[in-house]
Amino acid sequence: MTTTFFTPVQEGIKEVEARMRAQVDGNQPPDLRAAFEHLMSAGGKRIRPTLGLLVGHMLGGDHEKLVTLGASVEMLHTATLVHDDLIDGALLRRGIPTLNARWSPAATVLTGDFLFARAAKLAAEADYLPLMKLFAETLAIIVGGELMQMFSAHGSLSRENYYNRIYAKTASLFEMSAHAAAMIATEDESVRLALRTYGYEVGMAFQMVDDLLDYTGDQVAVGKPLGSDLLNGLVTLPAIYYAEACPDDPDVRALPEGGWADSERVARLVENIRASQAIHKTMSEAHVHVTRALEALQSFHPSAERTALDELARYIVDRSY
Ligand code: IPE
Ligand code: IPE
Ligand code: MG
Ligand code: MG
Repeated sequence: MTTTFFTPVQEGIKEVEARMRAQVDGNQPPDLRAAFEHLMSAGGKRIRPTLGLLVGHMLGGDHEKLVTLGASVEMLHTATLVHDDLIDGALLRRGIPTLNARWSPAATVLTGDFLFARAAKLAAEADYLPLMKLFAETLAIIVGGELMQMFSAHGSLSRENYYNRIYAKTASLFEMSAHAAAMIATEDESVRLALRTYGYEVGMAFQMVDDLLDYTGDQVAVGKPLGSDLLNGLVTLPAIYYAEACPDDPDVRALPEGGWADSERVARLVENIRASQAIHKTMSEAHVHVTRALEALQSFHPSAERTALDELARYIVDRSY
């Protein structure tokens, strides 16, 4: 990543990755080691630990603990992706084949489980019980979000359902990363709350842009399958805006009754959504969250980290991958 907000934590992120790698040693079966190496080699934006390190350093938190937390959060993220790609049947992630593209479901599930276990171990190593509790609660929220998506989201045009879903599957982990870093650094509840809010708002914007990229993104840059949300029955914000503007479009009316399973309908709908105001409206809504994230930072003294957190929030809506 060439973006400037990354610079103050560049070294810290290397330490985070080293901590992650240290979770697999000679004691694991060779196949698990190979799978882990495959996952680590793919990289990723490391946006969640970047956020945590910046928040923690802005508040003068202990560097070692922040690195441990960052490794825990990124490991948890990686574990959820391993399971998510299996659930979604996605064959590409970060530009390379997913584990499930090459391995049996059983081996993929178990590798994910191993990563969850290591994420929990790392969280415990921060040696702070409230943080462990936050970790466990966040994981439960993420899993609940994936289940909600599986059982009660298909074809749903409900905004409430959408916001609940994106909070659970994505914003909750951003929120946790910022909140936990603040917990490590300070006992001041108002400071913790401000940074938790920052993480929440950045996370909501992040998923809205992710959902937008599914319609407008460049497949190679994004490195994962695009144009697939609606085909999988997932109505995201661009489709919701379109449905609100064109409630009588027969393709829209068919959605809640399983119309998303009709590929011809979906292809037409996706084209119409792409050409509509829905794209711009989704971006504007993501901007609202970025503005709120920036507001949450306003009471903090100027510092390199604060500037970087400002930039990180703006980057969320500017990114192409
Ligand atoms: C992907 O997250 C999953 C979502 C919540 C959209 P990222 O876009 O942060 O994935 P990596 O880690 O950079 O690959
Ligand atoms: C991924 O959700 C979020 C979690 C891993 C919990 P999605 O299925 O929407 O994300 P992508 O598109 O696979 O990255
Ligand atoms: Mg997925
Ligand atoms: Mg997605």
